[in-house]
Amino acid sequence: MAPMKVLVVTASKHGATKEIGAVIADELRKEGFDASSVEPGDVTSLDGVDAVVLGSAVYMTQWMESARNFISHYGDQLRTMPLWAFSSGLSGVPVGNVQDPRRIGPTLLSINPIDHQVFKGRMEMPELSLRERSVARLGNAPEGDFREWERIRTWAQQIAADLREHLPER
Ligand SMILES: Cc1cc2nc3c(=O)[nH]c(=O)nc-3n(C[C@H](O)[C@H](O)[C@H](O)COP(=O)(O)O)c2cc1C
Repeated sequence: MAPMKVLVVTASKHGATKEIGAVIADELRKEGFDASSVEPGDVTSLDGVDAVVLGSAVYMTQWMESARNFISHYGDQLRTMPLWAFSSGLSGVPVGNVQDPRRIGPTLLSINPIDHQVFKGRMEMPELSLRERSVARLGNAPEGDFREWERIRTWAQQIAADLREHLPER
């Protein structure tokens, strides 16, 4: 029996979210799934894909355009398959603040994921454009790498457990 195929689709501008996607795919492979990590623009078809994990970095309160385009393009298919979502954003933003990465709701409502997690990301000033730097300073954004690898791996293991439980016929 062929292993279930899981596509981890990750929109990232400066690479931090891409690395989170790679770790999720790695963990799913360890759990026996045929998992790969790709960028939204690399996907040409979801045929033969059994489940999707879709993640994006949050910029100016929104998912990245490539992730939103992916949803516009594949939304009908995504709604019919097991789907998980994650956002990576600032660490330490007060709850309810406009920049709070948990406010990504409307984008996600349209695809109705089984679960959505918000992971702290990474922001290193030298990597940013001048414009990004000034936005980050205005928002008092904390600089550093806050990625929560244990939490991320545990979440991937939970996805694996859910897939095994809910799709036993595959
Ligand atoms: C210009 C700029 C704007 C940002 N806006 C937000 C935001 O509105 N909400 C949030 O949670 N994080 C925000 N962030 C933080 C990024 O989401 C975080 O650094 C993320 O890990 C970057 O991922 P990437 O390296 O994959 O692009 C912003 C970062 C920058 C540089």
